[in-house]
Amino acid sequence: SWTTGNVIEEQVAAIREQVGDKRAICGLSGGVDSAVAAALVQKAIGSQLTCVYVDHGLMRKGETEQVEKDFVAATGVQLKVVDAEERFLKALAGVSDPEEKRKIIGREFIRVFEQAQAEIIADEGPAVEFLVQGTLYPDVVESGGGTGTANIKSHHNVGGLPEDLEFQLIEPLRQLFKDEVRMVGQELGLPEEIVQRQPFPGPGLGIRIVGEVTKERLDLLREADAIAREELTAAGLDRDIWQCPVVLLADVRSVGVQGDGRTYGHPIVLRPVSSEDAMTADWSRLPYDVLAKISTRITNEVRDVNRVVLDVTSKPPGTIEWE
Ligand code: XMP
Repeated sequence: SWTTGNVIEEQVAAIREQVGDKRAICGLSGGVDSAVAAALVQKAIGSQLTCVYVDHGLMRKGETEQVEKDFVAATGVQLKVVDAEERFLKALAGVSDPEEKRKIIGREFIRVFEQAQAEIIADEGPAVEFLVQGTLYPDVVESGGGTGTANIKSHHNVGGLPEDLEFQLIEPLRQLFKDEVRMVGQELGLPEEIVQRQPFPGPGLGIRIVGEVTKERLDLLREADAIAREELTAAGLDRDIWQCPVVLLADVRSVGVQGDGRTYGHPIVLRPVSSEDAMTADWSRLPYDVLAKISTRITNEVRDVNRVVLDVTSKPPGTIEWE
């Protein structure tokens, strides 16, 4: 019968068999899937695994620390953190177009990750043969069930990396649905904040700033987002909503009043949605008192924000994210 204990035992045995005395690399995104996949592989092969976390500077408040501290504490995993904030900000400078931003973030991410991989291989030698991926069952079905190898093409050739090094994939979550992955993660002792995390896009806050992405704007959005998340959690609403993007309209200003003075600040958009699979979504009917609390706190506590607006559009026609 299906129990998380059985799944873990089976996977641990299978991974040990597959990897033998070789070594593996796993990219951590801060999300549930990569965290649980890494924890499973760590349980199976311990220090033969090295995890890589690319900090692109587009994460929400506290998320990088969650990976660096809480995840490492819970698993004992060997982690290489790459601080790439400056590199991403530089690449994004002057760019407002959403698709352009996504392309840049994706491209930089692969480059930084491959460079980290190459450094690990340079340190540890040819025994690094495996790459861990948090592929879930729905992903397998969607892509026609293919499996096999991933190619890394080295743009940098750090440490004499072969041109077309082939990794074999370890995909310990291939038979699981999302809720099962969360259960396995819980059983493995991962922090609640990681196991129960709502979906968050790979390009992070970079696609929640309408307009150019700058450090200053990111810091401002991080504060507003942290307040919204804190109040939604305090109100016990985390399980009722699919996610609640918080968006900064960086190119819009409106007039406000605070104390005796006129303000001219930016609006923050709250985008709480209910959904089953993110293909369609409805805007969440959040209690007015919770919305009021979030609005009051954001306008009081976040510099340069003088208005909070609620997105009441379903998907379609709106997407969940604004970009
Ligand atoms: P949209 O905005 O298309 O979002 O309605 C649907 C779901 O996908 C998430 N999303 C992403 N997730 N990389 C991801 O891993 C991305 O580039 C990305 N873009 C959107 C979004 O948060 C929502 O849950």
